[in-house]
Amino acid sequence: MSEINMVVNGRKVSGNVEDRTLLVHYLRENLGLTGTHVGCDTSQCGACVVHVDGKAVKSCTMLAAQASGSEVLTIEGLAATAGADLHPVQAAFKEHHGLQCGFCTPGMIMTTVDMIARHPEGLDEKTVRHELEGNICRCTGYHNIVKAVLAASQAMGKGSKGTAKAA
Ligand code: FES
Ligand code: FES
Repeated sequence: MSEINMVVNGRKVSGNVEDRTLLVHYLRENLGLTGTHVGCDTSQCGACVVHVDGKAVKSCTMLAAQASGSEVLTIEGLAATAGADLHPVQAAFKEHHGLQCGFCTPGMIMTTVDMIARHPEGLDEKTVRHELEGNICRCTGYHNIVKAVLAASQAMGKGSKGTAKAA
């Protein structure tokens, strides 16, 4: 067992976990933060993306013990970082219909927030599609997701170097 301490969505949490406990399972099962999904458990789908110390991480690839001492942000805490009911990326996904079943959406949104932060020069469609390679969506065909990401980048003042072409 390991004793862990971290800040999750602005709240200090601590406890004992088995050494093999993955961060995603700690978030979902110990903290009840089930907005972070498990689609594969083999680091392929991206449904489990959260931020650890500000960087997007697939939380099925990290042990909870490895995240001890870190600040973790999940989809449940995202809107509060913008001081709004919805973070601008969530609002853009809603407006541009960037989801269908919604299973991939928390991971897509957490990846997108990190992507926009790393591209202050703005984003183009090619970059967005490349950056989303680690996030799998079985429903949408990605087109509206790409539109949502470009719109969110613009809404957050990062600019966009193009809009997604019609499918
Ligand atoms: S559950 Fe983590 S990448 Fe699929
Ligand atoms: S909206 Fe269903 S998996 Fe992406």
